[in-house]
Amino acid sequence: MRKCQLNETTVLLEIEAPYIAAKAKAGQFIIYRVDEYGERVPLTIADHDEKKGTITIIFQAIGASTHKLAQLNEGDSILDVVGPLGTATEYFGAKRVAVVGGGVGCAIAYPQAKQLFESGAEVDLIAGFRSKDIIILEEEMKAVSTGFYLCTDDGSAGYHGFVTNKLKDLIDGGRNYDLVIAIGPVPMMKFVCKTTEPYGIKTLVSLNPIMIDGTGMCGGCRVTVDGKIRYACVDGPDFDGHKVDFDELMRRNGTYKKTEHDHLCRLTGGVR
Ligand SMILES: Cc1cc2nc3c(=O)[nH]c(=O)nc-3n(C[C@H](O)[C@H](O)[C@H](O)COP(=O)(O)OP(=O)(O)OC[C@H]3O[C@@H](n4cnc5c(N)ncnc54)[C@H](O)[C@@H]3O)c2cc1C
Ligand code: FES
Repeated sequence: MRKCQLNETTVLLEIEAPYIAAKAKAGQFIIYRVDEYGERVPLTIADHDEKKGTITIIFQAIGASTHKLAQLNEGDSILDVVGPLGTATEYFGAKRVAVVGGGVGCAIAYPQAKQLFESGAEVDLIAGFRSKDIIILEEEMKAVSTGFYLCTDDGSAGYHGFVTNKLKDLIDGGRNYDLVIAIGPVPMMKFVCKTTEPYGIKTLVSLNPIMIDGTGMCGGCRVTVDGKIRYACVDGPDFDGHKVDFDELMRRNGTYKKTEHDHLCRLTGGVR
């Protein structure tokens, strides 16, 4: 296992998983259990190397399970990793694409941009962070995009403002996208969809509902898309963003907030 701390809370792990590396495609994810008491936690496959037999995950240590994973060091192992799960992203033959990433969502936006760029599409990558000190993967994202637009909420680096403002500027400036892909916090994906809807630009989002089994059996990851029930672990995680009920997703994702917070406080003695 190779470990790299990307910023104060975001960690990259390259782990040996040859069977997953041989099959992984952009948009798919794994579920891991760090040890026998571990929760099942979904994380996107940020990169994979078939020859080395490795996959890369990039995650934010946000709660109990991701904190435990972040404490592992080179040479350690994870109890189990299942994948690749989910449906690989369908690009609909798009040739001019804007990939929009928010925060740790850039780790998921990166493999999408890479796959599109390597297949010959023009890729504008718009990456948004709260401030300069939490920027991740800047050089990697530049290397897989035709145009790279760094945005910060506080103006400490790049464009001062939200990714949605930058996206609108680019569209109004004449960028003729046939596809937009948005990955990040749910409110950000919702507002990217609101930005592209009046222009009629197809917009894909990668949804992050609470997942348990990851195989379509438990119903935990239920989302409503175009008024129909879908299971993000098998029907997604990518969906047509103009048809997603984001408000329901936000409500469902908050279900265990208090329990998760209490559990983390017990583990860390109240220090987060
Ligand atoms: C398909 C998919 C891909 C994801 N990819 C990434 C990634 O590449 N990098 C990354 O940093 N995060 C990713 N996430 C989110 C990640 O799974 C959660 O941050 C993680 O589960 C938090 O667990 P925790 O115990 O550390 O935190 P907790 O304190 O338990 O939870 C913090 C928040 O994480 C979410 N969460 C908790 N448990 C789950 C669960 N079982 N399934 C989904 N969300 C949960 C909830 O919104 C919760 O409020 C992805 C989620 C999904 C569904
Ligand atoms: S995680 Fe159980 S149905 Fe999707």
